[in-house]
Amino acid sequence: MRISPAARRHLRRFTPLLGLALLVLAGCAENYPQTTLAPKGDFARAVDTLFRSTVRWAVVVFVLVEGALIYAILRYRSRPGGREASQFHGNALLEVIWTVIPAAILVFIAVPTVRTIFRTAEAPAGDPLVIEVIGHQWWWEFRYPEHNITTASEMFVPVGRPVDLRMRTADVLHSFWVPQLAAKRDVFYGRDNRMWFTAEEAGVFPGQCAEFCGIQHGRMAHRVIAAEPADFDAWVAQMSAASSPVPVSQDDSLALEGQALFASRACAGCHALQAANAPTGLIGPNLANIGARLTIAAGSLDNTDENLARWLRNPQEYKQGVQMPNLGLSENEITALVVYLRTQRVAAVPPALAATAP
Ligand code: CUA
Repeated sequence: MRISPAARRHLRRFTPLLGLALLVLAGCAENYPQTTLAPKGDFARAVDTLFRSTVRWAVVVFVLVEGALIYAILRYRSRPGGREASQFHGNALLEVIWTVIPAAILVFIAVPTVRTIFRTAEAPAGDPLVIEVIGHQWWWEFRYPEHNITTASEMFVPVGRPVDLRMRTADVLHSFWVPQLAAKRDVFYGRDNRMWFTAEEAGVFPGQCAEFCGIQHGRMAHRVIAAEPADFDAWVAQMSAASSPVPVSQDDSLALEGQALFASRACAGCHALQAANAPTGLIGPNLANIGARLTIAAGSLDNTDENLARWLRNPQEYKQGVQMPNLGLSENEITALVVYLRTQRVAAVPPALAATAP
């Protein structure tokens, strides 16, 4: 087959595009944290297996169809002096074939799909850990009824034990999604939804609200921290012992000032500072352990002193529309509050995990 100079020019124009497409695909590589292509939980693995088998079938169909198309184009293209193509209308055999084959392919795909849907909708096996998941504009609340713990934005789960999520929303529709562990699940007002998964290995897995829920939908993130059972038990023990804010040393005048500000400057009206026996129904996220969390602002900022200060200076600057107003704090007040919030350390993420956190 000879390639005409015009076709060659076209191919040359395509080569950079092809390279770009490969680069973009490489972005989906397995080390990218928020990916469905590197499952670390049973639910995500079931979906991934289904996806891969569907893609395999799709590739076979693509190659056969495109191969036949290209063959026909080249073999039967018009040539000078060639005869006119035969003209006919309808071909029963062909029509039966191109109806039956796609139907058979659909059955091949539908059977494992429906099986996966039913399997992931069943009640989880074994002794699941129940966690209540409550969506808010724009953060996630997590409650552990078994341990009487409340937290926000960072969900601890034990490796190897199924977690049974009971999910709802306090306001509008949201969708809970941790790509490496499970599929998406929408939360509805006035209706409980459920989802379960089992983390297969320890790690910090980022997630993101997957249903548009207002202007800060994009900054409604969270982390699932899957810890070895011993580390999880330690976390539970420390958090369930935290039935009041962490006391501040009487020598630390700045922290004491921050503590007083937290009580007097509207913070305490919206945020609880203890994980155990925490009051529910508050507007803002529970801040127990805020000093040791990986992130602030619903998983969208690293938990550094600079970011905490920036947040306190004006939450609306980073997250316009958020419930927390600009409190008009002075720089000294901000510093005192940051120092105070740093003292609220109850249960640190195990260092080996924190080191790998995305
Ligand atoms: Cu919550 Cu999007």
